[in-house]
Amino acid sequence: MRTIAHISDLHFGTVEGSVADDLVADVRDYNPSLVVASGDVTQRARAWQYRAAADLLWKLPQPQLVIPGNHDIPLFDVLTRFFMPLRNYHKFISKDVRPVYQDDELLVVGINTARSFTFVLNGFWKDGQISEEQLLDIKLRACDLPPSVFKIVVTHHPFIPPPGERVHGIVHGAKAALDQMEQCGVDMCLAGHLHRGYSGDVRTHHEAVKRSIISVQAGTATSTRRRGEPNAYNRITINPDHVTIQVRAWDGKRFADAAKTHFSRLDGVWQREG
Ligand SMILES: [Fe+2]
Ligand SMILES: [Fe+2]
Repeated sequence: MRTIAHISDLHFGTVEGSVADDLVADVRDYNPSLVVASGDVTQRARAWQYRAAADLLWKLPQPQLVIPGNHDIPLFDVLTRFFMPLRNYHKFISKDVRPVYQDDELLVVGINTARSFTFVLNGFWKDGQISEEQLLDIKLRACDLPPSVFKIVVTHHPFIPPPGERVHGIVHGAKAALDQMEQCGVDMCLAGHLHRGYSGDVRTHHEAVKRSIISVQAGTATSTRRRGEPNAYNRITINPDHVTIQVRAWDGKRFADAAKTHFSRLDGVWQREG
């Protein structure tokens, strides 16, 4: 069994009150196998915001797997945006934007989907993308491992939209990435970006995919940029054919249990059970 604290969209620069300290206290309380932070650790990629994010990560348990999000690239500082987009990320958080965690039960591959140029290509500065090179990363790290190792891919931008909502924010290159993930037996993907907590089978949105893969999104753990949901993160418990996603939501004083979703895998298909 493995337990992951899946936090996302910290957005330091828009963090108020005791939420960051309460998050640290909550995660430290059960000491997960891994802390995953799926991007947007800052609001505007400024040094002071990165310093605050680094301080929070330093207080959270190890090991950790952290990737950048679109907000971790400067928006208005155009020179930095195009020529050194992750300068402060490298300085304060990590030099590694291809992080991997592996033990005998679990593989977690981090993919940086934040791009400097997407607003030129797609008309939206905040869009994300997965490159051919990153597909190779998934292949090299996941494809040769046995099915007994539970395989997870972490991106900032999600693969599926919230249930019943219009499609926006989905990572570009999702089809090719899911094709690769299917070939390599990936079981689950984790993301953030929309500041909404939800989960589902990727096949609900990508009909060509044959493999059942759970897509789990976390809300914003600490930012005031909430989208009608409280600050929250996911405590995910993984057994080979059973996954429980326990949302831990902030009530202004502490994080406590909120929605709980359980998936069981029957004949290779993940079934949602509440
Ligand atoms: Fe965000
Ligand atoms: Fe984002």
